[in-house]
Amino acid sequence: MEQDNRKTLFSAVQPSGILTLGNYIGAIRNWKLLMNDYRCIYALADLHTLTVKQVPAELRAHSYDLAAWYIACGIDPEKCILFVQSHVHEHAELTWVLNTITYPGELSRMTQFKDKSRSHADNVNMGLMDYPVLMASDILLYSADLVPVGADQKQHLEIARDLAIRFNGRWSDTFTVPEPYISKSGAKIMSLQDPEKKMSKSDSNVRAFISLDDDRDTIIRKFKSAVTDSGSEVRAAEDKPGITNLLTIYSCVTGKSVEEAEKEFEGQLYGQFKLAVGEAVADHLEPLKKEKDRIIKDKDYLDGVFSNGAAQAERIAGKMLSKVYRKVGLIPRKF
Ligand code: TYM
Repeated sequence: MEQDNRKTLFSAVQPSGILTLGNYIGAIRNWKLLMNDYRCIYALADLHTLTVKQVPAELRAHSYDLAAWYIACGIDPEKCILFVQSHVHEHAELTWVLNTITYPGELSRMTQFKDKSRSHADNVNMGLMDYPVLMASDILLYSADLVPVGADQKQHLEIARDLAIRFNGRWSDTFTVPEPYISKSGAKIMSLQDPEKKMSKSDSNVRAFISLDDDRDTIIRKFKSAVTDSGSEVRAAEDKPGITNLLTIYSCVTGKSVEEAEKEFEGQLYGQFKLAVGEAVADHLEPLKKEKDRIIKDKDYLDGVFSNGAAQAERIAGKMLSKVYRKVGLIPRKF
């Protein structure tokens, strides 16, 4: 078999229902761009999703949906490993070992844990706190060199790096210390209603985020009602967070630079600009949505992708977990 000398890349998204324009621009869009240069491993992080309350049948449907989106966005299961996290039991097992070298203090200070503890005050569970350790296991099992994520995941990546270094120091060199890949443009897409806040599917105001499943009219309507700034110039600037966010989105979906976009909209009113951004986003998403709608109908195909992906992932993860168990002193199973 031909040897693959490429570096390894790992990333995942939670199948939590709505995939936002932020998830797409900040993460999935970059995955496709990196697919030829790295050995890519992409997971559906369904175990992570359990940290907030789920309706079981919906969670299953959301997982198929997310896989269909991955493929529609250009993640080719023939060229990378695409699998469901819960299909590879090594993720949960490595989490247990890593838990023994993680301290509650470092988890309780995580911004996401603090935010989610506030927004899910009736369900502040251990999983919510342990979320970054499971994420570290995802990454470290595959010796990932690079992890493409949005800016909000930077802290979690730090924990993964710390745990790799800590484990390697306490036992011996085992894990690759991963590097985050946070794209210069679009790493933090902001809410359309409050440009100081990250665009998030859990926003109580549905006009604050674009779901990839929104239809054309809804997308355009949401952009038309986007909050802008004082003044009237379409220009990216620190004191213009609303316009800057819209310019970033426009640049990411059209491939034009922010400077080019500023020139294009010189002298135009905010209203015209917002409409143009809405149309550009709708144009960009339309073929992806069509493709996703086609793929989601073929459950057998998706099940095949999952089985194939899990088998490939398990081979790598199984070897790493055995190594870890041996290093920490557990008896290898002989039968
Ligand atoms: P999730 O599902 O919350 O987010 C998926 C990806 O979308 C990015 N993202 C954004 N990027 C730009 N602007 C936004 N407004 C925005 N909102 C979300 C996130 O940074 C993320 O890259 N915990 C991970 C899933 C995960 C994972 C992993 C990632 C589980 N295991 C291992 C990397 C490696 C998460 O945030 O999912």
